[in-house]
Amino acid sequence: MEPFKYRLFVCIRERPLGKSACAASGAHEIVSLLKSEIAQRDLAAEIKVNTSSCLDLCSGGPHLIVYPEGIWYSGLTAEHVVPFIETQLIKGERYQPCVRDEAELNDFFEGVKEKKRTV
Ligand code: FES
Repeated sequence: MEPFKYRLFVCIRERPLGKSACAASGAHEIVSLLKSEIAQRDLAAEIKVNTSSCLDLCSGGPHLIVYPEGIWYSGLTAEHVVPFIETQLIKGERYQPCVRDEAELNDFFEGVKEKKRTV
């Protein structure tokens, strides 16, 4: 049984200079802000912030996934953190400025899977 209402996985992957990666896009700051804002709202017992390695999107990060729904977000900045928490994690609604389109993601990951099948 999942003990948390929400579990976030935030990619903090670093890659060689010149390659897009979530760490270079501010992922560590986003993780820190998410944890502190969640703690300030006394929600740490309900919402767990985890870090992850690469989620395969890389450019346009940082990228994160909200479970149990599996909702993807990209490009969160420090200014997005509070409205993201209030909209997605408190109201349970998609935070539109950064939520990813599910159909577009499905198409993207079908391409990723196809590449892995042919390697
Ligand atoms: S580096 Fe974050 S998705 Fe690849």
